[in-house]
Amino acid sequence: MAVCISIVVGKGGAGKTTTCTNLATVMAQDGCRVLVVDTDTQANTTMFMTGYKLNEKAFGGKGLFDMIRAYGLIDVKNYIHPTQVEGADIIVSNDATPLIPQQLETLEKVSGIKAAEFLLNALAQVAEDYDYILIDTPPAQNDILVQNAMLASDHIIIPLKLDEQCVDALKLSDGLRIQLEKEYDTEINLLGVLPTMVEKTALTSYYLDLAFANTDSEENPAAEDLAVPYGEKLFKNYIHKGNVINESSLYKKPAVLLNRRAKPCADYIALWNEIKERMAENE
Ligand SMILES: Nc1ncnc2c1ncn2[C@@H]1O[C@H](COP(=O)(O)OP(=O)(O)OP(=O)(O)O)[C@@H](O)[C@H]1O
Ligand SMILES: [Mg+2]
Repeated sequence: MAVCISIVVGKGGAGKTTTCTNLATVMAQDGCRVLVVDTDTQANTTMFMTGYKLNEKAFGGKGLFDMIRAYGLIDVKNYIHPTQVEGADIIVSNDATPLIPQQLETLEKVSGIKAAEFLLNALAQVAEDYDYILIDTPPAQNDILVQNAMLASDHIIIPLKLDEQCVDALKLSDGLRIQLEKEYDTEINLLGVLPTMVEKTALTSYYLDLAFANTDSEENPAAEDLAVPYGEKLFKNYIHKGNVINESSLYKKPAVLLNRRAKPCADYIALWNEIKERMAENE
């Protein structure tokens, strides 16, 4: 049975897509069977995994929206495409993705499947075919696709660019996780919080010191916000900033396929090992 992990945070440009595509690549290179699901209208994950951009009309009208529209009539398997990464498949986002919320409402009316539980139901059809399912999500706080991703997931990872708003973004996304757990009587584990694009600036050093060393909230008011509730959740293998990530969009490939030794890529490889340890502890 596949373990499903969503990469979620409401804030834009936090490193969700970079994390989803590179982690999927590292997992596949480690011999795992991986399915990636792109729920974002921007379709960046689709581009990195397949090399096709949103306007290139690839995939024969078989994207996530089309899968929802045909749900119950045609197997989910028919909407899964190969990628440039050996061992990884994808359910793509296409130019019909903006129509999904409406389509989910229609599906709820005609089939009784709750709009927020569509992915949970659909992915169950292919759970035996994969070791891991990774879902990339849009930069939205509480939309129906973010809810779908979280409810389909065993774990979520919250990537964060360490800046002034990062604690708020983290709390909002984790708050949604807890709200959905209650509302749908389910368990969604916060696997970890992942600092991304880390460079040696005063601000990131401040947050990292806070998170990993100084958790004394009396001395430092921000410690109460980040370090105390989330300190243990921070991944030790955070992701450094590096040019290879920008270059990878030119090549339309995950950076790990271009140069595994580049700093951010080595970080994603180390992160995968840490994730495996955390999941083992969680069992
Ligand atoms: N480790 C890194 N080093 C350098 N640049 C990075 C790194 N990670 C991400 N970036 C860059 O930061 C930008 C945002 O990253 P990404 O697209 O992964 O974020 P996102 O959370 O998916 O954004 P959105 O919310 O728009 O979907 C991109 O231009 C990406 O190339
Ligand atoms: Mg993205």
